[in-house]
Amino acid sequence: MKIYQVGGSVRDEIMGIKPHDFDYVVVGTTEKEFLEKYPDAKKVGKNFPVFLVDGNEYAFARSEKKVAPGYRGFEIDSSSDITLEEDLLRRDITINAIAKNIETGDYIDPFNGIKDIANKKIVHVSDKFSEDPLRVYRVARFAAQFPDFTVDKKTIILMAKLKTELKTLSSERVFTELMKTLEKEKPFRFFETLEKANSLEEHFIEFKNKNKLQEHFENFSKYADEKLFISFGLILTDKEIETFYKRLKAPNKLYLNMLNLYSIKEMLNHFDKKNAKFIYKFIEISKQISLLTKEEFIDFIKLYKFEDIKFIEKITELIPLLDSLRIPEAMRNKGKDSSGHLIAMKVDKIREYLSIKS
Ligand code: CTP
Repeated sequence: MKIYQVGGSVRDEIMGIKPHDFDYVVVGTTEKEFLEKYPDAKKVGKNFPVFLVDGNEYAFARSEKKVAPGYRGFEIDSSSDITLEEDLLRRDITINAIAKNIETGDYIDPFNGIKDIANKKIVHVSDKFSEDPLRVYRVARFAAQFPDFTVDKKTIILMAKLKTELKTLSSERVFTELMKTLEKEKPFRFFETLEKANSLEEHFIEFKNKNKLQEHFENFSKYADEKLFISFGLILTDKEIETFYKRLKAPNKLYLNMLNLYSIKEMLNHFDKKNAKFIYKFIEISKQISLLTKEEFIDFIKLYKFEDIKFIEKITELIPLLDSLRIPEAMRNKGKDSSGHLIAMKVDKIREYLSIKS
């Protein structure tokens, strides 16, 4: 039995990046023999042997043959005669197909991943790339993660050929890949790479030919993850937000935050400083954007290039005062009348605070 470190951790070590999790491949053994050596190992794989040992994954070397469309349509061979090279061959890109002998520290690199790291190239290992269409999005994600790497032309062609297969991917897998991308250095490259591979239609049609998408990502470069996701509310239309959210089955909280940011954007485009009701509505919507702090909300508006940011700052300072208002005893517990009264009080307070009449 031989055990090799494989995948992203080997790639990251070579690149001088601290690896975040370690994957191992186990070659030339049986489950029985492996468990004799690692009695505490927990089996987690259903379709092929994968064990957890001290929080790290140990997968038996395997080769995969596609027998039906979709990423589940595989025939997997994980018998003890599968070699390390066969296991590396079924992997996505060469920089992810390097193994390290854990005893000697030597690299086994049959597909020249180390050279591709040096030349900053993202390139598929073999035609087996096509066996999992998610790799189209993985390549785009790696382009975002390693912004100075170029995706090889042949890989782009292979990605383009997988276009019709993308629909077999579950929304969860696509959404996860997008969210991983939004943590990376240059998320715009994800969309740019998919555009090149003509692969935006299936899950990201709303971003196709989107005006100023690059500029948006540049402006919001200090934001990542969920905050960057909801910032799409500033570039998509309400219809686009809805179709995108439904297709990706994004969490409702993200959807509502994005939609509220869209409403804020619409209000900014027709901002009426002299209208207290308008300002009340603006404040109420801004309070619904739960994923942003007050400072971040103001910063978003600044990045949206709204010219009168001082005014926005001024009205957000009003929020605690408005929140502290209470309806008089006599008006309480009267349902709609009570809430209407409270709104009127708040609107009045805004008028007073801003010295406006309407
Ligand atoms: N892999 C693959 N095809 C996939 C998913 C994974 O070939 N669709 C292989 C790659 O060799 C990859 C390894 O499995 O390096 C581990 O996958 P994963 O943990 O998803 O990604 P990493 O490359 O480790 O990247 P990250 O840094 O995001 O963990």
